[in-house]
Amino acid sequence: MDLMTAARKVRDHAYAPYSGFKVGASLRSRDGQVFAGCNVENAAYPEGTCAEAGAIGAMIAGGATEIAEMLIIADCPRPVPPCGGCRQKLSEFAGPDVVVTLATLSGETQVTTVGALLPGAFQTGDMGAVPVPVAVAAQD
Ligand code: THU
Repeated sequence: MDLMTAARKVRDHAYAPYSGFKVGASLRSRDGQVFAGCNVENAAYPEGTCAEAGAIGAMIAGGATEIAEMLIIADCPRPVPPCGGCRQKLSEFAGPDVVVTLATLSGETQVTTVGALLPGAFQTGDMGAVPVPVAVAAQD
């Protein structure tokens, strides 16, 4: 399935009763699988999770660890800017050159990269002795 179809489809399942802002995210992992996630809000607001986090969680559950391409869609006046936390999450599973397409429901898109979204991301290498995961090591 293409990423746009997957993200639009999963967005329909978003649980966003508090913000009313439904988001869908899809990604293709390096091994060719497509995973998708939507935002899931909670009455305890900070406990809610973003669509990107859902897609990454599905990827990890599916046995993949590296993102090759990502797409995020929302009913937004401009292509949806991912939140700071999601930019950091993405940077752990995708190299800086990985393409991220930001989209609106009405069909506008903006193509960017993980590195452009978060230059100078904190990496496990910054912790010195901590082992570097495969996906991150591949970027060096
Ligand atoms: N949200 C996402 O799922 N992804 C983003 O990149 C931006 C924000 C969600 C979180 C919350 O459920 C709602 O949008 C409003 O912030």
